[in-house]
Amino acid sequence: MQDVEKIVARALGEFAAAQDPAALENAKARFLGKSGELTALLKSLAVLAPDARRSAGAAINSAKARLEQALEDRRAALADARMEARLAEEALDVTLPGRGRGRGGIHPIARTWARVEQIFRSIGFDVADGPEIETDWHNFTALNNPENHPARSMQDTFYVDLKDAKGLPLLLRTHTSPMQVRYARTHRPPIKVIAPGRTYRVDSDATHSPMFHQVEGLWIDEGVSFADLKGVFADFMRRFFESDDIEVRFRPSYFPFTEPSAEIDMKFDSGPLKGNWLEISGSGQVHPAVVRNFGLDPERYMGFAFGAGLERLTMLRYGIDDLRLFFDGDLRFLRQFA
Ligand code: DAH
Repeated sequence: MQDVEKIVARALGEFAAAQDPAALENAKARFLGKSGELTALLKSLAVLAPDARRSAGAAINSAKARLEQALEDRRAALADARMEARLAEEALDVTLPGRGRGRGGIHPIARTWARVEQIFRSIGFDVADGPEIETDWHNFTALNNPENHPARSMQDTFYVDLKDAKGLPLLLRTHTSPMQVRYARTHRPPIKVIAPGRTYRVDSDATHSPMFHQVEGLWIDEGVSFADLKGVFADFMRRFFESDDIEVRFRPSYFPFTEPSAEIDMKFDSGPLKGNWLEISGSGQVHPAVVRNFGLDPERYMGFAFGAGLERLTMLRYGIDDLRLFFDGDLRFLRQFA
């Protein structure tokens, strides 16, 4: 039965050449399937004489057994190869270094905020926080800034689609000064507080942002004078900028809630900003009408207030020339402060 051995040789060749289970099963069908070559040979035995049929039948059956064994082996080999490939693909190199974890940093404005709190706390000031959505009364009227007064237009702001009890629209506070009123109406003198926080105005350029930060200061007691304001603020500046080479100047100004009012300017006598006078804060003796709105008797209680920009303080401390850098979220800038 030469035919049988030829078929076996071809079948073994095709099994070995099959690169995946589907190709292997197709090859099996060609030889061992219902109309496969070996099956056809088995059917053809019917026409042989009994003796010849017996020996040919034995040869074909042995061939079939060999092919089935080869098929089993090839199936196992393909499955092994597939597993190997998958293991290689999903291999984890535990000796590689880790990816690392991003570390957060403190924003420069937040650093200034914390420094300001720390310095004022150390001289006995409380730290207060209050709403960013304010009533017209707290933001303007109580601060001696009546409706229709032109000074209001210096602080154009964002109005909220909600009205207060008086029917006036709520607004995003234009300064931290309403905190003077909120705090003084809920505490007894001596009142000694700072209120840092976010403030809003319709303004946007290299030195103005629609959202910015201020710190309000208020000290009310019997006999707190402008001299106290000078002493406290000059001391704060020297400690904030960590330099005794700072001159402080009070320049006459106007704010409805203080009388007299002053802009506080500072001059560095050394360093990169040496020689320039720079405006740092509004300030003044609290107006008697405002003390009355605190619920206190202005004949007995007096004191000072100030409002300084945290962005301005931060820009001067670190030599930053564009305020928008604080809000762009550019890590190349922010990382320098982390
Ligand atoms: N609220 C003022 C502003 O935003 C700054 C200011 C000036 C605050 C004088 C004060 C003050 O407390 O006394 O422009």
